[in-house]
Amino acid sequence: MNTITPLKPSARDRLSPPDSVSSRAQRAASPRRIVGRSWVTRALHLLLLLAVPGQLASSEFMRRPFPGDPPGSLYVLHEYAGLASLAVVGAFWAWTLVRRGETRLGRLLPWLSASRLRDAAADIAAQARRMARGRMPDDEDGAFASAVHGLGLLGVTAMAVTGSIFFLMSGTPVAHAALALHKLIANLVWAYLFAHAGLAVLHHLLGSDILSRMFWPGRRRRPEAR
Ligand code: HEM
Ligand code: HEM
Repeated sequence: MNTITPLKPSARDRLSPPDSVSSRAQRAASPRRIVGRSWVTRALHLLLLLAVPGQLASSEFMRRPFPGDPPGSLYVLHEYAGLASLAVVGAFWAWTLVRRGETRLGRLLPWLSASRLRDAAADIAAQARRMARGRMPDDEDGAFASAVHGLGLLGVTAMAVTGSIFFLMSGTPVAHAALALHKLIANLVWAYLFAHAGLAVLHHLLGSDILSRMFWPGRRRRPEAR
């Protein structure tokens, strides 16, 4: 069951000055809200968190066997864990289609909608204004953050798909091309992992409850505490 508890504003929001006309206008231009996460989202995100860094790490130590040689155990693990991560990524995309009260698919993939692109652009402008005033970017799952999350998920999907094509069509030119793409996109996924995890930890260290929203159900704030 999808249980989402409304959240009260973060510590930094409570310290912010009262709502002004300009801050309301800014929110209208860049619709963002603090999102409660269902246990399904948390579980799927945790699986991604185990699978993707695991795949990135194993790829550093494995060696592709020469034709006729038996594959090493780490290489075999990378292949089968990679196939399993294709299922996890597929489940995450499917869940974004059906879940309610959380980030919708269109927010993760705003690229084909003019209004969603405008939301993301307005959000970037609002974040730039915050940073120009010496403040951290927002931690409230804004339109731009969601678009970046979507790009990360696309990158991981591309890794799982190209790896699987290489596995299933082994020895063909298509497999060769898929592996070349696999290696290229790997750099983007490394970059995403460091930037995404680094920003989440930085927000946490600055007092945001961003990590507890995603990882620790017990620390979510109760509605009556509002
Ligand atoms: C989310 C899923 C996956 C991630 C994040 C991932 C990550 C990586 C990375 C970072 C590399 C090293 C790239 C390089 O050398 O520059 C790699 C190589 C490789 N991966 Fe994956 N992989 C995934 C899924 C798969 C799957 C499903 C398969 C096959 C079933 C697979 C098979 C391979 C192979 C054969 C190599 C090349 C090894 C070599 O030439 O040394 N991967 N992968
Ligand atoms: C490569 C592995 C990862 C992938 C593919 C990934 C992917 C995602 C995606 C797609 C979302 C958006 C979820 C949604 O809208 O429902 C998200 C949110 C989040 N992730 Fe990750 N993630 C990864 C690793 C991590 C790590 C290592 C951390 C923590 C150190 C982390 C912390 C978070 C947090 C706190 C959020 C919520 C952000 C917010 O509310 O704005 N993720 N992640």
